[in-house]
Amino acid sequence: MKRIKTLYQCRECGARFPKWAGQCGDCGAWNTLEEAVAEKKPAAPRFAGYAGDGAAASIQPLSQVAAGEAERAATGLPELDRVLGGGLVQGSVVLIGGDPGVGKSTLLIQALASLSDTLSALYVSGEESAEQIALRARRLGLPAERLQLLTETCVERILALAEKHRPRVMVMDSIQTFYSGELSSAPGSVSQVRESAARLVRFAKQTGTSLFLVGHVTKEGALAGPRVLEHMVDTVLYFEGEAGSQIRLVRAIKNRFGAVNELGVFAMTDKGLKEVNNPSAIFLSRHQAQVAGSAILVTREGTRPLLVEVQALVDQSPLGNPRRVALGLEQNRLAMLLAVLHRHGGVGMYDQDVFLNVVGGVRVTETAADLPVLLAVLSSFRDRPLPQGLAAFGEVGLAGEIRPVPSGEERVREAAKHGFDRILLPAANKPRRAVKGIEVVPVRRLDEALRLVTEPL
Ligand code: TYD
Ligand code: MG
Repeated sequence: MKRIKTLYQCRECGARFPKWAGQCGDCGAWNTLEEAVAEKKPAAPRFAGYAGDGAAASIQPLSQVAAGEAERAATGLPELDRVLGGGLVQGSVVLIGGDPGVGKSTLLIQALASLSDTLSALYVSGEESAEQIALRARRLGLPAERLQLLTETCVERILALAEKHRPRVMVMDSIQTFYSGELSSAPGSVSQVRESAARLVRFAKQTGTSLFLVGHVTKEGALAGPRVLEHMVDTVLYFEGEAGSQIRLVRAIKNRFGAVNELGVFAMTDKGLKEVNNPSAIFLSRHQAQVAGSAILVTREGTRPLLVEVQALVDQSPLGNPRRVALGLEQNRLAMLLAVLHRHGGVGMYDQDVFLNVVGGVRVTETAADLPVLLAVLSSFRDRPLPQGLAAFGEVGLAGEIRPVPSGEERVREAAKHGFDRILLPAANKPRRAVKGIEVVPVRRLDEALRLVTEPL
């Protein structure tokens, strides 16, 4: 293959240099030069016979653009369909990231086997041998008659084959293993990942092929390779799971075709990934008796309310600067809440370590967790369990007020459905009509809410 001229481009400012250097000569940023392909003529490889190819673009009124509902295919895994926004959109590019061994390949081969029933499907692996993949598919009992397989790492060769076979849906496992022959850097390097992804995305858009890209995650939790990958694709999913736990969560971080922060819940079994239909049930640890420092939160992930347990441990600190550790919640928010608790609840934690954990490895990004977090903290501090059957949600403002959050009534119903008989919520979230089986306790200020913990209801 003909070698193409390469140059080095600054990630920050876009300046180009013929040689690599540690510092960009233009903007002065360090370590931002990356290998890139010098512009070629003709610009893009073309796939004959598709819309968009060669035809000159024209300006048209928005109202005259024919826009039907995006065509969607069911993946056979309703929880995956849910995070995708209701099924896989034709021609969309989905990036799915996760730690090694979390089950990305398993999830995608299950989805692809099911899709291959109605669409021509191609699984491209740069990581595993064909035998390994076949063995796994067989062990999972997947219908594999129509699933096409390719083990290859050169993007140009993959695209040449794909153009011939015209799959409607394609999985690329994983993007870090593919390389473009036009760059001299090693597979997995930033420029290779970006260039390979760019080519694949272009192919998907020009041919209307749905594309799944698997991406590895770095220790810091970001997708390895350039963040630009996230801008190039339509949907970004993160596949998460805790070591030693069967539970796997798929979360939409970005979705051009659906809600973000939608959560799909799976369990990893010896027969592959299985759906979890009632996720609220698994995130509640079943205590025999009420324990101090535990509060039940009704959060909302995407379009679905979810019950999770928040645990706090408050302990006398030997340090001058006590620790504030939050797992599954934002650390700064915890510091802020503790300040509000001091100022408006009259309880100081300045000589106490505060540890906070959301059970089951769920990450809660919502402000609705504020009130239950403070309840859990105070409950642990006083070593006094919260009343049995109590759930809570609500945002706590800096002035000590309890502020409403979206979908109050839906949360109350979810709590009632799981057998909770009392719920603490912002007064403005009080449902207009009573919900059967659950007593609603509206609160306006933090001190009102805290009184419920220190004095039994
Ligand atoms: P895999 O899909 O290969 O992970 P990834 O592609 O994200 O690196 O999953 C590998 C893990 O999943 C491995 O530790 C074994 C486990 N597993 C099961 O528990 N049951 C199964 O049926 C399969 C296929 C894998
Ligand atoms: Mg894999």
